[in-house]
Amino acid sequence: MAQERVVVVGAGGIAGAWFPNLVKERVVVAGVVDLDVARAKKRIAEYGLDAPAGSDLRAMLAEARPDFVIDLTVPEAHCAVTCAALEAGCHVIGEKPMAASMAQARRMVGAAGKAGKLYMVSQSRRWVPQHDSIQRAIAGGRIGGLTTVNCDFYIGAHFGGFRDEMPSPLILDMAIHQFDLARYMAGVDPVAVYAKEFNPAGSWYKGDAAASCIFEMSNGVIFTFRGSWCAEGCHTSWHGDWRFIGRKGTILYDHDQEPHGQVVAGNTGFNRPLKPLALPRSTLKHGGMHGALREMLAFLRTGKKPQTECRDNIKSLAMVFAAMDSARKGKRVPVKW
Ligand SMILES: NC(=O)c1ccc[n+]([C@@H]2O[C@H](COP(=O)([O-])OP(=O)(O)OC[C@H]3O[C@@H](n4cnc5c(N)ncnc54)[C@H](O)[C@@H]3O)[C@@H](O)[C@H]2O)c1
Repeated sequence: MAQERVVVVGAGGIAGAWFPNLVKERVVVAGVVDLDVARAKKRIAEYGLDAPAGSDLRAMLAEARPDFVIDLTVPEAHCAVTCAALEAGCHVIGEKPMAASMAQARRMVGAAGKAGKLYMVSQSRRWVPQHDSIQRAIAGGRIGGLTTVNCDFYIGAHFGGFRDEMPSPLILDMAIHQFDLARYMAGVDPVAVYAKEFNPAGSWYKGDAAASCIFEMSNGVIFTFRGSWCAEGCHTSWHGDWRFIGRKGTILYDHDQEPHGQVVAGNTGFNRPLKPLALPRSTLKHGGMHGALREMLAFLRTGKKPQTECRDNIKSLAMVFAAMDSARKGKRVPVKW
């Protein structure tokens, strides 16, 4: 295929993590759109690009005719931007979270189907070697059939911006990463959730900055997420600290170290004899947003479907909205998408 052409929409903070990868992959940036044109111009200058800047997405798409669009706008704008790009005949890769509501997310999935175009979400934490290793170990049956997944996420984060004011900062803005990772690493999908959101005493957030969620997943797996953005001291990793239990053994993964584990090595004794578990080595070559971009380029070149294609990723978003719904209602709710 000739050099792929892209229009980037949204030139704010996270755009700084995307442009270097576009340059590395020699993707032709055919335009940069932002409601604030000065921001688009600034990014173009920063990366020495020969591309127009604008604030009118439809006009830019008609002019530039890109192969795909990268949607780096705020979550509230994802639905309108992505649907406009799909309707203009472009494939789309967009930042997480997919949308600001399930109704919007369903509309986006429908728009991709109607246009016959790909819409994938970039869940940057999927493209991390340790996560690839764990996914392979579990899929390969190294700890036997999976029964239990726990994730702890505790950070004292003083953002001082919109997150301090929003109703469910942890679940809505952060836990989408861990919910998606649980689906990815464990290879299971959500069924139902019971969640309790709360705002710890002394919190500097207006909304609930902490939560405990118990998800029932497919194959009978139970996934427990405990987290807080209002926890001073002894922080976990931003990926979360994890325990995976299978019928034959356990994998631990914390503080971004190499995951490690133990499996049973005999069938007698109060505690069965154990041996260290060797996890498969990751073959991942490109991390974070670069990994996501490579999956879009592979799709354009070979038609291979990316793992975070919208029909799949909507299940991770559904976990977010079901958890908030459960916390509001104070009862177990099914996870629907
Ligand atoms: N993967 C990660 O780890 C990660 C990290 C940070 C942010 N993000 C995600 O990236 C997205 C953007 O976050 P950010 O921190 O860059 O936000 P930001 O506010 O810094 O930038 C967003 C930009 O989009 C522009 N914009 C808003 N609506 C628009 C529209 N309709 N058309 C064109 N431009 C529009 C704004 O003017 C702004 O320049 C969010 O979805 C966020 O959740 C992901």
